[in-house]
Amino acid sequence: MRIVLLGAPGSGKGTQSKLLVEKYKIPQISTGDLLRAAVAAGTELGRRAKAAMDAGQLVTDDVVLGMIQERLAQPDARNGFILDGFPRNNPQAQALDSLLARLGQPLQLALLVDVGTEVLLKRLTGRRTCARCGQMYNVYFQPPRIAGRCDKCNGELQQRSDDNESTIRKRLEVYEQQTAPLMAYYRSQNKLRKVTGEGDVQEIFRSIVNLIEDHIHPLSALRGAIGQTPAPRPKVTDLKAPTPVKTALSASAGTQAAAKKAAPKKKAVAKKAAPKKKAVAKKKAAPKKKAVAKKAAPKKKAAPKKKAVRARR
Ligand code: AP5
Repeated sequence: MRIVLLGAPGSGKGTQSKLLVEKYKIPQISTGDLLRAAVAAGTELGRRAKAAMDAGQLVTDDVVLGMIQERLAQPDARNGFILDGFPRNNPQAQALDSLLARLGQPLQLALLVDVGTEVLLKRLTGRRTCARCGQMYNVYFQPPRIAGRCDKCNGELQQRSDDNESTIRKRLEVYEQQTAPLMAYYRSQNKLRKVTGEGDVQEIFRSIVNLIEDHIHPLSALRGAIGQTPAPRPKVTDLKAPTPVKTALSASAGTQAAAKKAAPKKKAVAKKAAPKKKAVAKKKAAPKKKAVAKKAAPKKKAAPKKKAVRARR
């Protein structure tokens, strides 16, 4: 499975990626995490990235692309990956397509996690992360039991340096200008799907899994056809027009894309069903012929006995 999670800062890409990692056992590749690790390690790359990150700007494409190329070449990415926070602009998306084409592993889905601006602001200013285990909290939405301490490991909770209000506003602006156009890019490839990123984390996750199962693992859509319990469908609201912070994706485009995807599936079900009937018919017919042949055989063998009796007489 090879997917990109798109969405504004704070839309929940990281939160949902971690759940997807657990379910599908493929790595989350977050350029933000890779860059923060480089900054913390004080590498040359980290030093180059830090100023842009603190200003809420994008780090230069050459730095990010080099990092991604290296990461995708690692063995754990061979069975698939979840790209979180990459690509961030058209040149990055084009470079990713070229890279994946060379690897013979094209991207399958670009999933937009859609959240309104006011919610984004609260999510980002309220975010706290455990310095020890990386568990994420939010002082407004998912507070820890003890303020400043991780529920899981009692590690210290920290606030990201770019999660202050002025940098957040800049990040949202940069998202609108440079990243939101990617919706049109992936829509033109018929790879864009949208999920509402507001509400219960687990419910959002279920909607994401349903979209993945429908678009990447279409066989699971046949579960209903072969008598198993079908997975619940995503809510109709998942295909509504995006909230104002993301302007490029229209409601009709989302719905049309969903309709386009839905149509071939019916055919696929019909196609799959047809050969089964034939197979059943063949199986039932075959044993009858064999049975007739078996019954006929002993009659032929009986002839030599008569001859033998006559010879003795
Ligand atoms: P990056 O780390 O990628 O940050 P971002 O895109 O701004 O996204 P965030 O990590 O802030 O948010 P998220 O969507 O992952 O939300 P999360 O799940 O954490 O990038 C940082 C910087 O690095 C960039 O500004 C740039 O400088 C640089 N950079 C990175 N990639 C680059 C690239 N490709 N090119 C150039 N530069 C690049 O959730 C946020 C909060 O909300 C948490 O507190 C969480 O607990 C809470 N939350 C999540 N879901 C819910 C929910 N359903 N209900 C309530 N709360 C929720």
